[in-house]
Amino acid sequence: MDHFEYRDGVLHAENVPLDRIADEVGTPFYCYSTATIERHIGVFMDGLAPLDATVCYSVKANSNLSVLKILAANGAGADVVSGGELTRALRAGMPPGKIVFSGVGKTEPEIRQAIRADILQINVESEPELEAVNRVAGELGKTARAAVRLNPDIDAGSHDKISTGRREDKFGVEWTRAHEVFTAGAALPHVELVGLAMHIGSQLADLQPYRDAFTRLRDVTAMLQAGGFEIRTLDLGGGLGTPYDDTPMPSPAEYGAMVREVIGDLGCRFLFEPGRVIAGNAGVLVSRVVYVKEGATRRFLILDAAMNDLIRPALYDASHTIVPIAESADKEREPADIVGPVCETGDTFGERIPMPDMNPGDLVAFRTAGAYSAVMASTYNSRALVPEILVNGDQFAVVRERIEVDDYLARESIAPWLNG
Ligand code: LLP
Repeated sequence: MDHFEYRDGVLHAENVPLDRIADEVGTPFYCYSTATIERHIGVFMDGLAPLDATVCYSVKANSNLSVLKILAANGAGADVVSGGELTRALRAGMPPGKIVFSGVGKTEPEIRQAIRADILQINVESEPELEAVNRVAGELGKTARAAVRLNPDIDAGSHDKISTGRREDKFGVEWTRAHEVFTAGAALPHVELVGLAMHIGSQLADLQPYRDAFTRLRDVTAMLQAGGFEIRTLDLGGGLGTPYDDTPMPSPAEYGAMVREVIGDLGCRFLFEPGRVIAGNAGVLVSRVVYVKEGATRRFLILDAAMNDLIRPALYDASHTIVPIAESADKEREPADIVGPVCETGDTFGERIPMPDMNPGDLVAFRTAGAYSAVMASTYNSRALVPEILVNGDQFAVVRERIEVDDYLARESIAPWLNG
């Protein structure tokens, strides 16, 4: 459930009509709903009760400082994958004791930053990385808490590019090698291995791959415990799917029940790293129709938003539901290809989408654009970076300004020998 709905024929974010924001801020823009974010984090946490669970929101999904601040105020910590995300999480007030650091390629400066900040744990994904953590911690005169991310060799059944738990994927340590890595870790003086981690993919529409992966995690945990290793934390990653259309998704309550059933009795602290399920349906991308073009075989709605603003359709064949901001009284729908202005055929948001009659200047909203949307924007075609707006009840604020071409041109220079 989200807080974007039509009132008096206009799509609103909570109590604010989106056309009003468009008039004041210009298009395109991302708009997030506070009430929706709060609802989603609440429902997710409720679904896990009564497990000893800490939710480390996956910052990569939507790293806007205001979004992080709302989540921190609602009890969430953070899953970060770069020094930049760690900086954001800390700046938003997320407690270091609820921050985990994931990712296959943490650099020494990033590891140093994490150890200095005294975060909950670093999830290591290889032995060289474990050794790097030990080395950096030693230089700082500290002991770093680390967990070992296992690759369970389970296919999440999601899009190929966002499935991460298969043997051939770059993530984690092969699950059969857990004992070996823990033994090696025990010999390192500046690392304390505190647990295990897993993340098998994103946008999972089915609980079965989780069930299989967590069963494997359960077996490895029991084996390590029997070998005398203490396993304090089990980080189960993120990945729970979000409805982009009418396809049903497992609810957080069903997910939580499955976790409790499969692995809940191990006496560990559980960490969760949801991203999309928290932020996805809490945001929309609002764009204006620039032209309506009758092509040889198709009608094109050409928008002022493009693939650089929302890359998901081009990259993952994702389809975001696109709706007019002004509710159409006319029930008639004609198929249209909805495209952006970028010079690639890949800059297509949807083909043959049933749309009401639309005219230049009309506004549309892309639903489910709160996750992996603004964060993946680029300046391709020297376009601006889209601003982000946060709504809360009757109020709205620009929480990330539009970054114009002049803003980033200020960082570009002409090589001295070219200046005649
Ligand atoms: N934990 C780890 C270690 C991850 O790699 C990810 C996502 C998450 C948690 C959060 O997963 P979520 O709950 O959001 O599914 N850009 C892609 C999605 C990439 C996901 C990467 N990792 C997209 O737009 O679909």
